[in-house]
Amino acid sequence: MTAKPLVAGNWKMNPAAANFTELASAIADEIDKIDGVVKVLCPPTVALREVATVLEGRDVLVGAQDGHPEPSGAYTGEVAMGMLGQICSHVIVGHSERRALFGETDHVVAQKAVAAIANGLSPIVCVGESLDIRDAGDAIKFVHDQIVGSLTGVDNPSSVVIGYEPVWAIGTGVSARPDVAGEMAESIRNTLMDLYGDEAALAIPILYGGSVSPENIGPYIDRPHINGALVGGASLKPNDFGQIVSLVASIRG
Ligand code: 13P
Repeated sequence: MTAKPLVAGNWKMNPAAANFTELASAIADEIDKIDGVVKVLCPPTVALREVATVLEGRDVLVGAQDGHPEPSGAYTGEVAMGMLGQICSHVIVGHSERRALFGETDHVVAQKAVAAIANGLSPIVCVGESLDIRDAGDAIKFVHDQIVGSLTGVDNPSSVVIGYEPVWAIGTGVSARPDVAGEMAESIRNTLMDLYGDEAALAIPILYGGSVSPENIGPYIDRPHINGALVGGASLKPNDFGQIVSLVASIRG
């Protein structure tokens, strides 16, 4: 079984004007009818319910950008995976911005992935190397270790999605060369095969993320182990996001 193509839009802390309903419905109008690709919008936490309402009856899912592994308790400002599970189908864990700005380690990311799965959510587990690590020739080993560390305790990976986002390509306009991303995706696939066996590993979608646009998405999706995209900036532009989903569908769907 090969992984089902998936495109997720990570809105991050956007849009500033908080017109969530307008944005979600404009995007849904673009992508609702595109078959063969799982489509997920990940708005800020405050907008999850609103966006879920807009997407009711449409073929577009809602994802959170993070969640806390504990079921409840004194964690001011946090939202539990169980709470998110009532609204969302997916949750991003271990995004490089959370790792860099909020000190998240592989250990924490793994706890989040385990809690997400326990609450019926598909975790989109993000990994990716910095430019220093790539320049030192250590990217493959670094990402291998991130995958192993971030999936510790995940016994059944059937709902897991992997997001490979090289840190140097995020929000910079400098996307990774498709052969570079393809080589990393193949290495990630091999790591997943070692962890879970061939059949389970082949069913796990591996997404490329980092300055994805309608102009550059094609060659990524042509790579055998890249099954979709994790899109930041372009996911805030309904037409661009629509074109990305449609290109993924035409190549992979
Ligand atoms: P950009 O597409 O804006 O580079 O962001 C990528 C990303 O971080 C998605 O999670």
